[in-house]
Amino acid sequence: MARSLIPNTTWSRRLIYELIYLSLGFNRTAVFNVGFAPAQPDIRANPAFADRPNQIQLYAEMFNQLPWEADHWRSSDCLELAAGCGAGLLYLNTRHAPRTSVGVEQSYVAAWRGRRLGVDVRPGDVARLSFADACFDCVFCVDALGYFPVAAALKEAFRVVRPGGYLLLGETFQGPPEEAQAHFRRIGEAAGFDFVHCRDATGGVRRSLLEGSKSSAFVRSLPALLRNSLKETLFLEGSERLRLWQTGAFSSVIMTFTRSSSRR
Ligand SMILES: C[S@@+](CC[C@H](N)C(=O)[O-])C[C@H]1O[C@@H](n2cnc3c(N)ncnc32)[C@H](O)[C@@H]1O
Repeated sequence: MARSLIPNTTWSRRLIYELIYLSLGFNRTAVFNVGFAPAQPDIRANPAFADRPNQIQLYAEMFNQLPWEADHWRSSDCLELAAGCGAGLLYLNTRHAPRTSVGVEQSYVAAWRGRRLGVDVRPGDVARLSFADACFDCVFCVDALGYFPVAAALKEAFRVVRPGGYLLLGETFQGPPEEAQAHFRRIGEAAGFDFVHCRDATGGVRRSLLEGSKSSAFVRSLPALLRNSLKETLFLEGSERLRLWQTGAFSSVIMTFTRSSSRR
């Protein structure tokens, strides 16, 4: 399951993320997820995404799940849960140009970095969203469900999605894709959503992790106490989590849910 290997207290987790986002070079677009490979040529060619194209590609794969034409995207309001430094929102704005886009992120450093990037990332807790009911057409979350109380966050997501709107989740899971689908489907439905589709993204995510496992320079500059946690969190070489990916124990899925317009 998408579980965290870093200490399980709110403050230690927050501190670790502040350190991560401080450690990633400020001249780089800091995007921090498992990624999906290969990345499309237009993503590789964009200087804003060239550092971490696979991580942006995971967002692209997710947005491709929505049945929206360009016009629909342009009149949509979108929210990202746990938006990190906002690179996913930057891609969304560049590729699909929604009417509005906003992210909520617990890390103050990440939110600040997002604003520096020109996207609207607000410091906050995904389990307590400061938005009105039914004000988004799409809520999405990439590689983050293991880091916060999922039931509370998805209940909030359900509250802020308009009837007929969508929830997209891109997540990893320890177990085969069929179990991942059943697991995340249960979670989404428990929050009130209707399941629409599950895309098995395991092959692309595994390829991305195997390509990216050597990029550990910033981890070595962190205090020894944190280093092991980060090694696992980032699937770096020598980590148990990377070994599990290599042996096929993990899977990755992109789940699409909707908030029904005919019920509730
Ligand atoms: C693996 S990162 C993914 C970030 C981003 N989605 C990306 O792909 O770059 C997980 C993120 O969840 C954020 N996070 C964890 N708990 C949170 C909470 N309760 N509210 C908001 N963000 C949270 C962390 O600060 C971190 O940025």
